[in-house]
Amino acid sequence: MKLKEQPEIALAEDLGIPLTLRINGKTYSLRVEARVTLLDALREYLGLTGTKKGCDRGQCGACTVLCDGQRIYSCLALAAMQDGKEITTIEGLANGDTLHPVQAAFIEQDGFQCGYCTPGQICASVALIEEVKQGCASAVTPDLTHPPQLAELSESEIKERLSSNLCRCGAYNGIVAAVGQAIGQTPPPPEALVLVEE
Ligand code: FES
Ligand code: FES
Repeated sequence: MKLKEQPEIALAEDLGIPLTLRINGKTYSLRVEARVTLLDALREYLGLTGTKKGCDRGQCGACTVLCDGQRIYSCLALAAMQDGKEITTIEGLANGDTLHPVQAAFIEQDGFQCGYCTPGQICASVALIEEVKQGCASAVTPDLTHPPQLAELSESEIKERLSSNLCRCGAYNGIVAAVGQAIGQTPPPPEALVLVEE
């Protein structure tokens, strides 16, 4: 039974907080109990199941979405706090039948296997690229006064900036290569040992 079909949740909905969510360019009006997370609102109330629930506690990144252009763990974000914000989920990245360049790169570089963590990985990668464009440094940026440009983004920078997203099957090589492709770099060959400690 879906969450919203459960009697006690339906009652809570009647008493819930009215909010308007802008998701992938569409406007959704709903009522949710104050404790409902954005992740549950997406999946259980709005049927946007592209965003996955892995750990439900901010440890895996499977639920990553973009909120006003910045990546967040939707399992740790209350839906009621997103009123009026622009949310982008994996369903909103493609333009019709044309994949987002990061989505295409994930396919071409074999950046996923199970697919469960892939929506979050792709959303995080899209955000990563924007963060670099905006001059954000990471924990491995050697000179904080000169954050890296996309063209010179190193493998260690990509890995650090995606350390918020876990892949248990080991598709990391393909994921790093996909980000490399999306930013215009020549991706490393498939046999590259990009997980070797640097
Ligand atoms: S489901 Fe949100 S971080 Fe794992
Ligand atoms: S692609 Fe999901 S665990 Fe690796």
